[in-house]
Amino acid sequence: MKIEELLCLGNKTVHKDQTKLLLAILLNMNPLELSLHLNDIVDLEIEIKFKELLESLEKGEPLQYALKNTNFYGLDFYVDKRVLIPRFETEELVSNTNNYLNKYFSNNIKVLDLGTGSGCIGLTLKYLNNNLDVTLSDISIDALEVAKINQERLDLDVKIIESDLFQNIHDKYDVIITNPPYISYQDEKIEKLVFDNEPHLALFADNNGLEYYDKILSTCENYLNDKYLIAFEIGYNQENEVVNLANKYLKNIKIITKKDMEGNPRMVFIFKNIEINE
Ligand SMILES: C[S@@+](CC[C@H](N)C(=O)[O-])C[C@H]1O[C@@H](n2cnc3c(N)ncnc32)[C@H](O)[C@@H]1O
Repeated sequence: MKIEELLCLGNKTVHKDQTKLLLAILLNMNPLELSLHLNDIVDLEIEIKFKELLESLEKGEPLQYALKNTNFYGLDFYVDKRVLIPRFETEELVSNTNNYLNKYFSNNIKVLDLGTGSGCIGLTLKYLNNNLDVTLSDISIDALEVAKINQERLDLDVKIIESDLFQNIHDKYDVIITNPPYISYQDEKIEKLVFDNEPHLALFADNNGLEYYDKILSTCENYLNDKYLIAFEIGYNQENEVVNLANKYLKNIKIITKKDMEGNPRMVFIFKNIEINE
């Protein structure tokens, strides 16, 4: 079939942007380029794959799960229903943390990525700084299987530990970075596509979404060196609460919060025994 015919076929049941993106990915083209090639005949193999994936999208599956792939920080990550699909905000968490690592730490830095899911945070930091000592941990064995796939694909040397928060963590780290579950069970804004497809273990938290920040902050110093950085992704409306929890449990810290590209406060960085200048 021609590109134009496949686009028409897809547009009957799926949003036209998704159809275009799907076909562009399969043809290794930019979506805009498709319109310049509308009369090109598509290889049968790709046509079959396109129709298969279209069926998954029709069933309400996110494109990334249908493709079993997503791009995070320019790297390809395998994803499926066992893990959260990495988000743009999390790229910003990684980018800022990477800057802090380079600015305030020197050699032999130990990083714990708590609730690693696909491994996107810890593996990207390791990719960017090969000398980091990175540990990925998660309570979900399913998620850790996905993180392992990504570790092998990216060929990065990291440790992987199954752990309910710090239960099986016996080391001390310089940096704990985490994007924990933070959606309140009462949240009415959650999209159906997310609610129906992504693991609820990765999404929801008690205590108005603050459960994990509270649990992590109340015990984290047992797993941190004297000089440390804690890097949190937070929900768009959780800045004050998370800052209050940090001040409740930790002494002599310096806190920096940052907004994401949409202008929502999304990151909390907690420093101890580090002279911050920014
Ligand atoms: C919001 S997802 C983040 C996944 C990934 N780090 C990312 O940013 O895309 C939260 C992760 O925390 C994990 N998790 C939930 N409860 C946990 C617990 N008690 N201990 C450790 N990990 C937990 C989930 O399995 C999930 O992978």
